[in-house]
Amino acid sequence: MSTHPDLQPVRDFLGCATPAAWLDQAVAQQEILLIDHANCEKKAAATAMNLLYRHIDRSELLHKMSQLAREELLHFEQVVAIMEQRGIAYRRLSASRYASGLRDRMRSGHLETLIDTLIIGAFVEARSCERFAALMPLLDKTLSRFYRNLLRSEARHFEDYLALARMYAGEDIEPRVQQFREHERELIEAPDAQFRFHSGVPA
Ligand SMILES: [Fe+2]
Ligand SMILES: [Fe+2]
Repeated sequence: MSTHPDLQPVRDFLGCATPAAWLDQAVAQQEILLIDHANCEKKAAATAMNLLYRHIDRSELLHKMSQLAREELLHFEQVVAIMEQRGIAYRRLSASRYASGLRDRMRSGHLETLIDTLIIGAFVEARSCERFAALMPLLDKTLSRFYRNLLRSEARHFEDYLALARMYAGEDIEPRVQQFREHERELIEAPDAQFRFHSGVPA
C-alpha cells in the first residue's frame, strides 16, 4: 500500500495477503474483532513476559521484550477503552487456531525453542500489522486512526523479533522462516469455522 511505505518489509515477509472474505467478516463482526483483538494484545504481552523469565542471560532480549510487553499492555488498555466507549461487554472467547497452530511446529531444545518462538513472534506481529492496514479503509474514523497507530508499533515489533532470531540463531534462519511462512499461509488461507482476529477464510 503506497500510503504505508513502512509496510513493504511486512508484506515481503508474509506468504500471502489477508483474503477479502476475512475482511468482509471482520467488518460484519466488529464486536468479536475487538474482543479477540484485546485478547491478542494481552497474549502478546504474556509471550514477551515468558521470554523475560526464560532467557535472563540475553540482555538484548530482556531490553526489547520488556519494552514490547509494556507496549502490548498499552494497546490492550486502548482496545478495552474503545470497547467501553461502544458498550461492548468483555466476554470470554475461545482462542483461534492460529497461535496454537504455529506453536505445534515448534522444535524442542532450549535454543531451538527460543529461535522458533522469536520467528513465530515475527509472523504474528507481521500478520497483525498487515490486517490493521487492510482493515483501516473499511472501518470508522476512530478505529481507522487507532489501527494506523497500532500498525506502526506492530511493524517495529516484527523487526525486533526477526532481529533477535537472527542474532541468537548462530546460523541462517531463512530455511526455518520459510517453513513457518508456508504453515502460516495455510492457516490464513484454509477455511476456518471460527471468526477471530487471526482466523482463516470464513467457512
Ligand atoms: Fe500490540
Ligand atoms: Fe506487537
